[in-house]
Amino acid sequence: MKVLVIYSSRDGQTHAIASYIASCLKETDDCDVIDLQHANTVNLANYDKVMIGASIRYGHFNPLLDKFIKTHLATLNTLPSAFFSVNLTARKPEKRTPQTNAYTRKFLLGSPWQPTLCGVFAGALRYPRYRWLDKVMIKLIMRMTGGETDTSKEVEYTDWEQVKQFAEDFGKLSNKK
Ligand SMILES: Cc1cc2nc3c(=O)[nH]c(=O)nc-3n(C[C@H](O)[C@H](O)[C@H](O)COP(=O)(O)O)c2cc1C
Repeated sequence: MKVLVIYSSRDGQTHAIASYIASCLKETDDCDVIDLQHANTVNLANYDKVMIGASIRYGHFNPLLDKFIKTHLATLNTLPSAFFSVNLTARKPEKRTPQTNAYTRKFLLGSPWQPTLCGVFAGALRYPRYRWLDKVMIKLIMRMTGGETDTSKEVEYTDWEQVKQFAEDFGKLSNKK
């Protein structure tokens, strides 16, 4: 089966998750991985299934996500598809489902695209790589929400077993919707 995985990533974690999913799928499927920024000219009709993953920054997904969905809506709603979001709120297990993760729930409520499968993954906190203002802001948010505030640290919260299970569930979707 021909599968497309599109990712929107600022600091690399969503890209890493998309690549890992693709490596799981490649055992059985022919899988392409594309950055959302270069995805607009892609022909979705060439694929049997599509997955999109995007991270959250200051409460929002990349605006290109909505644009892509609008442009490709008809095909997206025809193909078996999946969406996953990546954020730090999801480092708390009780905020790691599409229903309990506010960003993901809001996305699903407002999106004309209704993916067949939806997942939420915890991202990574990489203070040393952030610009000064981002570092200050993230530290503030972490202090307010009981998270890591040591700005010398990099913490990866992603549960790779959960990602693997998501890839397996996606692999099991039949190519008919
Ligand atoms: C500047 C900045 C803003 C962020 N804003 C949020 C946020 O509003 N809510 C949240 O849960 N996570 C937030 N995060 C955490 C990211 O979603 C997390 O680090 C994720 O792993 C980033 O994925 P990426 O590396 O693919 O961009 C933010 C991270 C940064 C650096």
